[in-house]
Amino acid sequence: MNKNRKESMKTLKDIDVSNKSIVIRCDFNVPMEGTRITDNSKIVKSLDTLKYLLDRNCKVIILSHFGRVKSEEDKSKNTLKYVGQELSNLLGREVKFVDKCNGAKVKEFVDSCNKGDVILLENTRIMDYPEKLESGNNMELAKFWASLGDVYVNDAFGSMHRAHASTAGIAKFIPHCIGLLVEEELNNLSVLVRNTPHPFGVFMGGAKVDDKLPIIKSLLDRCDYLLTGGGIANSFLKAKGADVGSSIATSDDDILNELRDLMDKYKGKIILPVDFTIDDGIIYDIGSKSLELYKKYINQSEIIFVNGTCGKFEDDRFTEGTSGLFKILKESNKKVIVGGGDTVSAAKKFGYSFDFMSSGGGATLEYIADGTLAALEWME
Ligand code: 3PG
Repeated sequence: MNKNRKESMKTLKDIDVSNKSIVIRCDFNVPMEGTRITDNSKIVKSLDTLKYLLDRNCKVIILSHFGRVKSEEDKSKNTLKYVGQELSNLLGREVKFVDKCNGAKVKEFVDSCNKGDVILLENTRIMDYPEKLESGNNMELAKFWASLGDVYVNDAFGSMHRAHASTAGIAKFIPHCIGLLVEEELNNLSVLVRNTPHPFGVFMGGAKVDDKLPIIKSLLDRCDYLLTGGGIANSFLKAKGADVGSSIATSDDDILNELRDLMDKYKGKIILPVDFTIDDGIIYDIGSKSLELYKKYINQSEIIFVNGTCGKFEDDRFTEGTSGLFKILKESNKKVIVGGGDTVSAAKKFGYSFDFMSSGGGATLEYIADGTLAALEWME
C-alpha cells in the first residue's frame, strides 16, 4: 500500500475551478427517522467545499449514495430528496433536486443549468438494482457522471473505502482532486499512519470484532497498547475461555483462534476489562476498576486513537464505562483522535469534543490500517 498517497494527491487548491461545472461526490448518507434527518453533521461538514465552489461561480452537480439499494422498493425509500431540502436550508440557496441520476434527461437538465446553480442528483445506488452498476464500479456509468462536468471533486471521505463508479471509476474520465473535507481528514489522520508519536495508545470497542480484525491486527503492530471494550473485549475474553453467555461477541471459531494467537503474539499489549455491568447474565458495560486500569495507560500516552464504545451507552443504565472513558481521555490532556460514526455520536452525547473527530466510519479504519483508501487508489 502507498503510505505516501496523500502527498501526491491533487487538492482543490491545485485546480482552477473558477466558472467551471464541478461534479462533486459527497457522503450524504445521514441517519434519518422517517423524513427527519436526525444528525446533519455530514451535510454541515461538506459546506466548506460547496461554498468554495460557489464563491468561484461554479455550477455544482452533487452525487451521493444513501443507504443500500437491493430492490425496486429500496429505490424510492432511499431518496436524497430530504437531504436536498436540508442542504438548501444550510446553504441558504435553492438546491435543484433531480429524482434520477442517469440518462439523457439528466444530462439535458444539468446542461441547461447555470453557473451558481446547485444540483443534487438522486441516490447513486439506485443504479445498484437490478444490476450493481454503482457498487460494481461500472465504467459506462462512471463515464456518464464524468460527462456532466469539467472537474470531479471527491469530498466523500466516509465513502472512500468503496471503489464505486461515483467514488472511483469516474476519476478515470475527468480531471479530479480531493475536496476540503477529505483533505482535512487525511491531514489529521495521517499522524496515525506515519511518524506516530509514542507511546501510541488505542481504544477499540463496539460490536463488530469480525469487521474490525484487520484494523486490530494492523494497529497491534504499531501501537504500544490496545485497550478494549464492548463486543471486542467480550470476544477476546471468550477466546481466553471466559463464559460471556449471550453477551455480544464473535461466534466464529476461526476468529476466536486468531484472537488467541494475537494475545500470544502481543503479550501484555492487549488490555481487557476486569469488571463489568451485567444484567441477566449479559455484559453491557465495563466497570470502574477497568476504567482505573485504562486511565494509567492513557495518562502515559502521547496520542490515543479511539474507536467504538465500552458498552450499550444508548441505554441510561449502561453509560458509566463510555462516559467515564471520555472523561479520562479529556482530563488526560493527551492528543485524542476519535473515529467512527457511533463513537463520535457517543462523545457528543456526553458533551465531549477532542483534537479530531473523524466523519468516517469504515473509511477511517481502512485509512489508518492501510495508509490509503480504495477510492484514492483511482485518483492521480
Ligand atoms: C457510512 O455511513 O459509513 C458511509 O456513508 C458508507 O456507507 P456504506 O457502508 O453503505 O458504503
